[in-house]
Amino acid sequence: MRPQVLASALLSAARAQSISACPTTRTTTAAALRTTFATCPITTSRLFSTSPPHSSLVRPQAETTTSKQEIPIPTPSAPATMSTPISANSVLELIKARRSYYQLTKDLPIPASRVDEIVKEALLHVPSSFNSQSNRIVVLYGADHDKLWDITSEILKPYVTDEAAWASTEKRMAGFRGGAGTVLFFDDQETVFEYQKNVPLYKDKFPAWATQSDAMLQFACWTALEAEGLGANLQHYNPLIDERVAKEWGVPTTWQLNAQLVFGGRAGEPGPKTFKPVEERFKSFGA
Ligand SMILES: Cc1cc2nc3c(=O)[nH]c(=O)nc-3n(C[C@H](O)[C@H](O)[C@H](O)COP(=O)(O)O)c2cc1C
Repeated sequence: MRPQVLASALLSAARAQSISACPTTRTTTAAALRTTFATCPITTSRLFSTSPPHSSLVRPQAETTTSKQEIPIPTPSAPATMSTPISANSVLELIKARRSYYQLTKDLPIPASRVDEIVKEALLHVPSSFNSQSNRIVVLYGADHDKLWDITSEILKPYVTDEAAWASTEKRMAGFRGGAGTVLFFDDQETVFEYQKNVPLYKDKFPAWATQSDAMLQFACWTALEAEGLGANLQHYNPLIDERVAKEWGVPTTWQLNAQLVFGGRAGEPGPKTFKPVEERFKSFGA
């Protein structure tokens, strides 16, 4: 692997877990990852996006029926109404206002309880395939948040041997640690397996659908937290950190880490953003 590619991979977490081609399973052991880094080219596809779930991460499904406690979802008899009606433009304004804020502080403009409330509401209402509800979340604040980024730095250190690259990585880690908290997004592989078993027609689809639903949840949380004045950025230090995270916070072995949303008070503005012409990316017929 070219050094600059490795540095980029480690500096930008998405790239750190974008090693594909070689592994066909999700592998989280440090040794296996070192082998992967040493032998596999970086690609833009995810390490495990289309791979079958790693059997070692998942307990065999004991039952064919769902065992989770079902909470009835209210079915509106009339079109949804809100106390303050909003138009699509209001929704689009929120979508446009969501940006990556990298300069964060530990001072939240809202209480942590409100952050929890927003994240829980999003978790409850973001859709999932067959309403399988495979999304899982852990929110870390204070010393737990700091610990996550200390652990991540510790894990990255052996991979970043170049001094300048390490200085940059350390600065980046300090930036994340400087935030107030991190939302960890997971999908539950036991749920994915359960649906693969019960709905074999879509067996190959459930892993991708689970990550798609989780991505919707990430977007919902990111957008909603920034609507309340927070800054946030999305990171991907999985699968490098998976084992340590699971051990440190007692995360069930079936919960597979997908992303880390770092949040905090805003200490700077997002960088400039360019857009490809939308006409090149959109087609419409028959209107
Ligand atoms: C699926 C996905 C993965 C991303 N991964 C990372 C990441 O690992 N590290 C990072 O700093 N930003 C990451 N980002 C943020 C993007 O780089 C950012 O959203 C994009 O450049 C547009 O900028 P904006 O968020 O300010 O609109 C990711 C975004 C998405 C949607």
